Amino acid sequence: MTPEAASAPTPTRELGVAELAVIIPTLNEYGNVAPLVERLDRVLADVAWEAIFVDDDSTDRTREAIYAIARRDPRVRSLHRIGRRGLASACIEGALASSAPYIAVIDADMQHDESLLPEMLRTLKSEPLDIVIGSRYVAGGGMGELSARRVRISGLATRLGRRILRAEIADPMSGFFMVRRDAFDRAVRNLSAIGFKILMDLFASSPEPLRFKELAYEFRRRAYGDSKLDSLVVWEYVMLVGDKLVGHIVPVRFLSFALVGGIGLVVHLGVLGTSLRLLGFPFEISQAAATLIAMVCNFTLNNVLTYRDLRLRGWGFLRGLVSFFLVCAAGAVANVGVGTVLFDTLALPWWAAGIAGAVVGAVWNYAVSGVFTWRKRAKA
Ligand code: GDD
Ligand code: MN
Repeated sequence: MTPEAASAPTPTRELGVAELAVIIPTLNEYGNVAPLVERLDRVLADVAWEAIFVDDDSTDRTREAIYAIARRDPRVRSLHRIGRRGLASACIEGALASSAPYIAVIDADMQHDESLLPEMLRTLKSEPLDIVIGSRYVAGGGMGELSARRVRISGLATRLGRRILRAEIADPMSGFFMVRRDAFDRAVRNLSAIGFKILMDLFASSPEPLRFKELAYEFRRRAYGDSKLDSLVVWEYVMLVGDKLVGHIVPVRFLSFALVGGIGLVVHLGVLGTSLRLLGFPFEISQAAATLIAMVCNFTLNNVLTYRDLRLRGWGFLRGLVSFFLVCAAGAVANVGVGTVLFDTLALPWWAAGIAGAVVGAVWNYAVSGVFTWRKRAKA
């Protein structure tokens, strides 16, 4: 017996050691916290469990609801993240905050059927599996009352997902599953942690194919509050897929940044042409206006698309805009400087010097705005 094994206590409920960690991501789920813990307590009566709520700075009283329970029940804990967003990264950090050998992920809003958890655990312990998935698409499962539009989008994303994964999962979009810690730990360093498809991320990031089984459940109606997923989840999904396909070559954030830059160029030319030709302003004024508007547009789009997880709001938005202006101004100087040297000194063709200057400017803008404009903040 190894020294670790000899001294390690067996997970007993008397010691308060959890065998199963239930990770619950929350964003304004005030009314769901207490009822969910009650349900977990009931269905997991025979299991040594702990619940970790990972809250992304909810503005309702979600954390108060969690603390009220955690102060009398040591099985319940809260992980409060500030200046961050993201369902997938919340689940990952929740799992990392626990040492339980089994990890479950479940939504706070009771759409996932918690009564499946004991069977998931039994299955995971008794069969040669890494992960058990709560599935809406195997016999006995269902989409519940999900709107026809959501069902359609989910079906489309599912088919795309199956292509990327090397596994024939019926419901790769599920956000309800239980995984062995060793399997999670093997994948954790490769996770993209983008957006909300943590299950897909796990499958795509695992060095060996995950041995899985799907258990059917019926997707229920949300108990309290509203869904947090807006139409931009489709974009986040594209980012996740992009990261899995080309992320090892070029950061997917840079691709998004470059795409926004391309849109900015179109905006710039549109404003310039309108101002010059339709409104009759002189070139300097038109070019200045086009530059200003394109920069505001680029900043806003990057804030929503490229840096969705670090999105700036309120005063932070204005501060970010100013710093983005300064970063881009320096980027423009670098762009012109490099382009001129290549054109004048190395006698490159005008278009090659132009492109090279623009690429240097774009890389500068991306790298420096990532540090100064959308930096990960310790506080809001
Ligand atoms: N910490 C954190 N941060 N939690 C979040 C965030 C976030 O940025 N966004 C959403 N959540 C939490 C919600 O509070 C909720 O507990 C859970 O994640 C799911 O969010 P919903 O807004 O209820 O999502 P949904 O019902 O549209 O989609 C869910 O069901 C799908 C089908 O199974 C998600 O679980 C999807 O992952 C899942 O595919
Ligand atoms: Mn939901």
